[in-house]
Amino acid sequence: MFFDINPKERKEDLYDRETELGEILKALELGERLLVIYGIRRIGKSSLVRVSLRESSMPYVLVDLRELYYNENMVTAAHLVRYLVKGFRERMKWYEKLGFDLEEALKRIKRIRVKEYEIEIEPAARISLTTLLSEINSWCSRHDMRFILVLDEAQYLRFSNVRYDGLLAWAVDNLSHVTFILTGSEVGVLREFLRLEDPKAPLFGRYRREIYVGRFTRDESIDFLARGFRELGLEPDMSELEEVVGIFDGLVGWLTHYGYYRAVREFSHERAVAEVFEEGSKLILEEFEKVIAPSRRRYSTILKAIAHDIDSWSDIKAYTVAKTGYITDKRFTELLKNLVKYGYLTKENGKYRIADPVVRYAVGKLKLT
Ligand SMILES: Nc1ncnc2c1ncn2[C@@H]1O[C@H](COP(=O)(O)OP(=O)(O)OP(=O)(O)O)[C@@H](O)[C@H]1O
Ligand SMILES: [Mg+2]
Repeated sequence: MFFDINPKERKEDLYDRETELGEILKALELGERLLVIYGIRRIGKSSLVRVSLRESSMPYVLVDLRELYYNENMVTAAHLVRYLVKGFRERMKWYEKLGFDLEEALKRIKRIRVKEYEIEIEPAARISLTTLLSEINSWCSRHDMRFILVLDEAQYLRFSNVRYDGLLAWAVDNLSHVTFILTGSEVGVLREFLRLEDPKAPLFGRYRREIYVGRFTRDESIDFLARGFRELGLEPDMSELEEVVGIFDGLVGWLTHYGYYRAVREFSHERAVAEVFEEGSKLILEEFEKVIAPSRRRYSTILKAIAHDIDSWSDIKAYTVAKTGYITDKRFTELLKNLVKYGYLTKENGKYRIADPVVRYAVGKLKLT
């Protein structure tokens, strides 16, 4: 069902993305070791990756680093190992179907036990990520298989006591039968963290495939919604769909939410639109508060200025100074850049804009305390 609001897993529930899907499958088939998938929030990265994994028929594990970070406040190597194990546990049936023998792969690691559909790790065990991955790699190379490790929202790796860029570089160099798929919604943050272009950084010069997941066009968005309705036996009102796409643009996440409220929950058109703004902005604000916490008043003021269509560097700065007092040019630029890097703002031709209508709405609700 197109209007299921969870990330999609099955190809028939995924609208289009044929090109991206084809690229991922091709990379896996060629045995490429590093894939990086960029795309703003709610554009469908997780869905794309999950569907690709199922289509690939390869053993994999997916770690949601955003969830890990929110639960643990840090992404230490020990956390990562535990979440990997949790991910293995969820995939045991899949592994069996594919003939991937996790029990045998991990048998040399003392403090992990695999039995039937269970895997346990001793509570105080310190198992290194490199050992875990090396063992999986060596099993896979003996059996001519490829293991995929997905680090969803990999920008959260920076909240750690470990240099993951070094570890990734080591893995890419040494583990011939493991492919890493990294996704990132804070596109700028992930690029900065990976430092793929920095000659002094560990990952520099490593071959990788980068895939950008973008918005749907206007026609695709309308087609997506119309098909979502028809799939549920409903005839869509085209003028409503036009309006929805006018509001939410080609952001598939919001379109899906609208479809869910309108077609599944059977809300009126107006109420469904309002609900996307209300519920969506709650999600945004929760995350947002974490990002802006270090300089909450200033970040909020900058965003409010831009939400009021003040769009040039100097006008936004003047507004911010008027509301929050003196700030150096350097510091102000840094705050503005951070908001772009985190994906809340876009900058085109020197003008700043909040590209996501639900983010704009959420900014209106931000309280300046
Ligand atoms: N191609 C698609 N066809 C149908 N629904 C989709 C598609 N892509 C995404 N969706 C839906 O849009 C919403 C957001 O998708 P998803 O969670 O995959 O995006 P994401 O980029 O990983 O978002 P986030 O930044 O929140 O992690 C979900 O409700 C999902 O079901
Ligand atoms: Mg996601």
